[in-house]
Amino acid sequence: MNRLRINLVLILCCQWSLPLLAEESFSQATTTLAASCAACHGPQGNSLGGTPTLAALNNDYFIQRMQGFRSGAIPATVMHQHAKGLTDEEIIALAAYFAAQPRGTPLVAPQQSFKGAQ
Ligand code: HEC
Repeated sequence: MNRLRINLVLILCCQWSLPLLAEESFSQATTTLAASCAACHGPQGNSLGGTPTLAALNNDYFIQRMQGFRSGAIPATVMHQHAKGLTDEEIIALAAYFAAQPRGTPLVAPQQSFKGAQ
């Protein structure tokens, strides 16, 4: 029983330290930009619901979508505005950042859940 509990703690610790480790290899400009996406797309791009998950998204697909939003070629509700403020270099850096983020269910207190607020 105790061993099972220790294993669970280890699994949880490892799972949640990975995003922090991954973040270290990106510039502060990129992590700051990515933090602005977290308001809607969740921590490290793991959506809390209502928006697409960006974590572990394919690099090329991410760039294609962002350029499409920026040019207006892809219909969107809010992403046109966000994409318009980004340079090609920033989109490429964000694509690499989100591609490197592991997918997981974000740990949130129930009262912080989007579903609870609706
Ligand atoms: C105000 C909320 C909001 C913010 C902030 C936001 N997004 Fe989005 N994002 C959305 C919504 C909603 C969609 C679905 C398309 C739409 O309706 O605009 C989306 C779609 C996307 C997609 C397409 C995903 C797919 O699977 O097709 C990408 C890529 C994306 N966002 C990247 C970003 C990045 C990078 C940032 C930060 C620079 C960001 N978003 C900030 C709300 C947001």
